[in-house]
Amino acid sequence: MNMDTLVSLCKRRGFVFQSSEIYGGTGSCWDYGPLGVELKNNIKRLWWRDHVQLRADMVGLDASILMHSAVWKASGHVDHFTDPMVDCRACQRRFRADKLDEAPWIHSCPAKKDTKFEVPGGEPCVHCGNRRTLCPECGKGQLTEPRQFNLMFKTFMGPVEEDAAVTYLRPETAQGIFVNFENVLQSMRLKLPFGIAQIGKAFRNEITPGNFIFRVRELEQMEIEYFVNPLDTVAGRPADEYWHEQWIEERRAWYRRYGIAAGNLRLREHGKDELSHYSKRTVDIEYRFPMGWSELEGIANRTDFDLKQHAKFSGKSLTYFDEERRTHVVPYVIEPSAGVDRSFLAFLADAYREEEVRGEKRVLLRLHPELAPVKIAVLPLLKKRDEIVARAKEIRTELARRWVTVYDDTAAIGRLYRRQDEVGTPFCVTVDVQTVGDPEKGEPGDDRVTIRERDSMEQIRVPVAELVRIFQELLGGQPWSSVVQRYPAQDRA
Ligand code: GLY
Repeated sequence: MNMDTLVSLCKRRGFVFQSSEIYGGTGSCWDYGPLGVELKNNIKRLWWRDHVQLRADMVGLDASILMHSAVWKASGHVDHFTDPMVDCRACQRRFRADKLDEAPWIHSCPAKKDTKFEVPGGEPCVHCGNRRTLCPECGKGQLTEPRQFNLMFKTFMGPVEEDAAVTYLRPETAQGIFVNFENVLQSMRLKLPFGIAQIGKAFRNEITPGNFIFRVRELEQMEIEYFVNPLDTVAGRPADEYWHEQWIEERRAWYRRYGIAAGNLRLREHGKDELSHYSKRTVDIEYRFPMGWSELEGIANRTDFDLKQHAKFSGKSLTYFDEERRTHVVPYVIEPSAGVDRSFLAFLADAYREEEVRGEKRVLLRLHPELAPVKIAVLPLLKKRDEIVARAKEIRTELARRWVTVYDDTAAIGRLYRRQDEVGTPFCVTVDVQTVGDPEKGEPGDDRVTIRERDSMEQIRVPVAELVRIFQELLGGQPWSSVVQRYPAQDRA
């Protein structure tokens, strides 16, 4: 499966649309459609439930996107949140200098009498030592020397567009947590170690966005700042190093829990030269995306950098009183920083399957039931029979109180099943003639319906009165096999 297949599925089935498409689109901004918003909300809900609500050492926060401009001076983003860029003098296109070097290029070598040959990506010419000097797009223009380009979106607060009113759209949610450290600590009476979690939008004016929703200018983050006492040791190690390892494993296990194959995840240690300005150590969880291994989540040890910087710039003390040692300490911070959009792409890519069923292609999203945008589809076998349609709609209304449930009668049953497979709906409920009987012939219905399971395509027949209990089991984590044995199997469709 390649990225184009996913992009096309996402558009066709209402997961993701290009932003402002009718005007030709906005560079690297995307809109989540009716099914996309459900999947996205499910990712956020599970992250929040697992890391905030189920843990005694975590609390949540929702800080504003616009912050005091001093925040970004203190955090180092004004000075350091930059990418080196070069411009083409002919076509004026702009490129990231470090990315330019990754691709092979055609070189006319002065040390070889201007002979042309391809130089592999990442290396200078072995004969003359030159790096790429011509534009990779137009092939004619000379490239400028690299210049640092700040990735923050600048804007003005208030009615006057002057320097004093400049502020930025936040490039990370993290700073909203650091500047609220004291508020949260005091209001919640917390003891180290503890974490503050936040989900929210962040903005980065990327020079080379791309790969669908992988690198975007408006992204959504799920960030945790986990504060530890630097004077503590845990299991014989400094507390920050111990908790860093814990969070790496916790976050990797989280992706596995919701279905990502172990072989598609790996850890990558940042080299000293690529560490962010605040980090002592960063480990990425990488996913094997359609375009290759890339960062899914970064887990950094930010030390006491941010709290100390904000204390310095604001003049406020941002410390924790260690009662045992009778001393104030500045906590160290472990930061698991995940992207909602990247998680969305990874879950989708990992779930995608193409199978052949009775000579026909079946496209399937094997999404974990908790992630699936729609949990149950209620389908009438015959839409011309009013009693069948009415009963199916009643069942949908009843189930929709508890789970996202849809009704669809716009095609024959085989096609309706395939449509639900393609968007990952784990269960279909089919209402047929037997369910409602035939009043004209005086035949009573049995008020039983068929449940079809997405992955196995197995079907069982169950009383309507038991549907809620059955789905409580199935959508509460019980395996299909444990429910199947209690009910008669049906032929597949
Ligand atoms: N807070 C880390 C990041 O946004 O990359």
